[in-house]
Amino acid sequence: MSAPAPHIPNAVPHLAGNEWKYLKECLDSNWVSSAGPFIERFEVEVARYVGAPHAVATVNGTAALHVALKAAGVEPGDEVLVPSLTFIATANAVAYCGAHPVFLDSEEVSWGLDPQKTADFLARECLARAGRIVNRATGRVVRALLPVHLYGHPCDLDPLIEVAGRYPLAIVEDAAEALGAFYRGRRLCGDGRLACLSFNGNKIITTGGGGMVLTGDAALAGRLRALTTQARTDSLEYIHEVMGFNYRLTNIQAALGVAQLEQLDGFIERKRATAAFYQRALGAIDGVSPFVEAPWARSIYWMASVLLEPRRCPDVRALLRALNAAGIGARPLWRPLHLQPVFAAAQAYRVDVATRLYDRGLSLPCSVGITPEERGTVVEALRSRLEP
Ligand SMILES: Cc1ncc(COP(=O)(O)O)c(C=O)c1O
Repeated sequence: MSAPAPHIPNAVPHLAGNEWKYLKECLDSNWVSSAGPFIERFEVEVARYVGAPHAVATVNGTAALHVALKAAGVEPGDEVLVPSLTFIATANAVAYCGAHPVFLDSEEVSWGLDPQKTADFLARECLARAGRIVNRATGRVVRALLPVHLYGHPCDLDPLIEVAGRYPLAIVEDAAEALGAFYRGRRLCGDGRLACLSFNGNKIITTGGGGMVLTGDAALAGRLRALTTQARTDSLEYIHEVMGFNYRLTNIQAALGVAQLEQLDGFIERKRATAAFYQRALGAIDGVSPFVEAPWARSIYWMASVLLEPRRCPDVRALLRALNAAGIGARPLWRPLHLQPVFAAAQAYRVDVATRLYDRGLSLPCSVGITPEERGTVVEALRSRLEP
């Protein structure tokens, strides 16, 4: 009898702690909706974990980005500088504000927003007019930078902060994929800038669906709290002075989050062990380059990604299909957003690294619960499909 075909998913939740217990507490106490003790507890505990003074829990990471951009002052007609290599939600959140993403390139080390090209774009393509930064090509105000910490690895933040400070531009960090990572010894989201997390099912910890905005600014936190709860200023009379959103996380979701957060450090260790295994086993193969964290970073390796040279793998898409057909949940890197039909009209500035990474890269199965045998199966499946 032949061995059953493997099914090794890309990244699935790991629900191994107090999830049932805390969920039962919600049901037993009747706190199931957008109020209840687990919401504040989750906010306080995530804020403490990352070292941020304030946290506002939201219904998902996209909603977190949307309200964070609004809180940062992004208005309809503005532009926001976004890396092209990211999930669509990053740019959608800009569009939800009535603003326009401008797509910039990634750099080779972190795969995050390239500080040099960002500086070049602002210096060469924009001008200062009446205290604002205006894009020469579109005549629109450039309001903010939206760097993304991709695949669990911090982007090179300090030079981006320096560039943004020169103009100045607001910064909102998309840390949806990188809860727990460190940049130059500092935990991401703990510096007081607006930063957003996601607790979607494939993220390092999950609430089913959920997100959070972190900030060091108490007034901004208050504004975010109002924006995410329909901007109600009088809780008895229901007075609404501005338009808000129904974006609050529920107590049930937060209960899951509290249970997951208790396990986060162990999850990160397991993600890092999986990445280290792939680096050892695949890094030794000519023409295969696993993504390795920068010396200044501690990645959570939300994804374990590799780049494949054309001579070993002429067609990465065909390889992906073959791996998936064999039960190996390999995934492409994010399709750069300047190539997405929905953003076809958006401006893209000298994007070439992101496109090359997309062409040559893939992410391997890396669930927290992946077994050593499964990792070995993944390596063999990939190795055996490379050109000699
Ligand atoms: C980089 C990035 N930004 C934003 C999001 C949006 O998060 P959510 O799915 O919770 O809305 C995700 C994940 O889904 C993401 O990977």
